[in-house]
Amino acid sequence: MAVVGAGPVGLAIAWRCAARGLRVVVHDPAPGSGASWVAAGMLAPVAEAYFGEHELTGLLTASAARWPAFAAELTEATGADLGYRTDGTLLVGLTADDLAEARRLWAYQQGLGLPVTPLRPSELRDREPALATRVRGGAFAPTDHQVDPRRLVAALRTAAVRAGATLAPSAVDRLSDLDAGVTVVAAGCGAAALAGLPVRPVKGQVVRLRAPGGVAPGFRHVIRGYADGEHVYLVPRVDGEVVVGATVEERTDTTVTAEAVLRLLRAAVDLLPELAGYDLVETVAGLRPGTPDNAPILGPLPGRPGVLAATGHHRHGIVLTPVTADLIADLITTGVADPLLAPFTPDRFTTEEGNPWN
Ligand code: GLY
Repeated sequence: MAVVGAGPVGLAIAWRCAARGLRVVVHDPAPGSGASWVAAGMLAPVAEAYFGEHELTGLLTASAARWPAFAAELTEATGADLGYRTDGTLLVGLTADDLAEARRLWAYQQGLGLPVTPLRPSELRDREPALATRVRGGAFAPTDHQVDPRRLVAALRTAAVRAGATLAPSAVDRLSDLDAGVTVVAAGCGAAALAGLPVRPVKGQVVRLRAPGGVAPGFRHVIRGYADGEHVYLVPRVDGEVVVGATVEERTDTTVTAEAVLRLLRAAVDLLPELAGYDLVETVAGLRPGTPDNAPILGPLPGRPGVLAATGHHRHGIVLTPVTADLIADLITTGVADPLLAPFTPDRFTTEEGNPWN
């Protein structure tokens, strides 16, 4: 079988399928250079449960539940440190207006039965003393965790190859060029040109900081904040890195703009003043593979025997990696589609006239 795309999703599918004895070739001229290179790696089924995305929230929750075993298995297979952290996520509002906006979403998430616990300001600061004193309030999402996507991709490459997969550094221009019984399109935004799927780039700009002196950042939770109307997240790694993200732009370029960096850093420092003293180590932009309903496209392509999609993961590629890999590998090796796949199949975008998004 062939997998087009060596991001986390493509590599995890290759790992799973190779481990079940399939001969797998993964095609990508630049593995891990897509959205995952920029991603912060939040595993956030709760904080990213948005209005009107009920089915997607179910998939995020199912995949997040697989993460502990997935991370343990990958570490066991490779010896790699994935930067997987389970300290949980603090959701905070800087001003009264920010807090009011945040509380509307928390109420919705609580209504779905998701674990979001409101905290008094004193409880917030007990958990994270480095927060600015003017942060008005917040909540705790204990099951929203994080992993380092760059470490994840490196580990998945190793695991896939150790399981017997081959990495081919070749670009694939046409699926018909591949000599494979089964082909999985896991090419992120490239799935549009390659397979006619309704995937569009959604630009995200990100800043990476580093705590000075080679120490860990002065906070341990992922912090997702509303700060004077800006949405920002701060993701602290044990190795000292802090990822500050992200813009969400309907654009196709990967230019980093001064305005975006200014807005991200202003919001970050408003929430956590000590970040102003951190080293600025990287500014970068990437393209999330967005779809018309913000949910991934998973399963067989109508009218294309042997071709499956595993793409369109938009803002959730890292958290959705385990469930995507398991369900696609099951489908390929057993022919049985897990019911979890049903809302996400490619045929939801086709009509009798064909694909209206082309
Ligand atoms: N999931 C974080 C982002 O898309 O920016």
